[in-house]
Amino acid sequence: MSETEKAYAERTIAAYRVHAKKASRNWARGRRPSRFLREFAAALPPGGRVLDYGCGTGLEMAWLRSRGFRAEGVDGTLEFVLEARRRCPGSRVLHARFETIPLPPGRYDGIWCNAALLHVPPRELARQLEKLKRALRPGGWLGLTLAWGRGKRFVRRDWIPGRYFACTTRPEAAALLRDWALRRLAVAAGDGRRGRWIQVLGSWDNKACRG
Ligand SMILES: C[S@@+](CC[C@H](N)C(=O)[O-])C[C@H]1O[C@@H](n2cnc3c(N)ncnc32)[C@H](O)[C@@H]1O
Repeated sequence: MSETEKAYAERTIAAYRVHAKKASRNWARGRRPSRFLREFAAALPPGGRVLDYGCGTGLEMAWLRSRGFRAEGVDGTLEFVLEARRRCPGSRVLHARFETIPLPPGRYDGIWCNAALLHVPPRELARQLEKLKRALRPGGWLGLTLAWGRGKRFVRRDWIPGRYFACTTRPEAAALLRDWALRRLAVAAGDGRRGRWIQVLGSWDNKACRG
């Protein structure tokens, strides 16, 4: 990774901060829980503890709460975290970077990570998936979406210019998730977002991870 690329998180979060109001408005407009979010929720035990990793303004966290789950959030953009806290009073929403936040082992019945880890480079994505795996209870579920395709770059001509994106092909996703039990690994249309997406619904038994 070049020196410029190493700043991918700084630059991506700076871009979100500059355009936070616009992003918040756009994400909220006509947003409904996606079919994939519903499928993820259906896999969880009633009232389970869920982490929304890269929760943005907390729209999906709020929906998960409305379904009776105990939802927590993490996001690196302060403006989004403040909005998520307002939207989800009483829920823990941490302002933190993926790269540095430790997650407690075995805490979650489910981790939802929608369109967020597409902002980290491939090697970091592998590290993040290991961390998420350890944060799940045995039998817990990961619901993950990544931008489908090839290419890793800062995108200048965009409605939020300057963000870093790393796209993932299906074989790359399959290799990254080879030791997960996958209920779903699909390339699908956006479910409310433009483009095509890798959707993953996978489970992990922490017992297999010992030693
Ligand atoms: C496209 S938004 C998706 C937000 C939310 N999951 C949704 O579906 O509405 C990507 C989110 O990832 C967060 N993010 C990007 N890079 C991050 C990083 N390195 N650490 C923590 N959060 C990050 C951004 O702040 C943003 O909220």
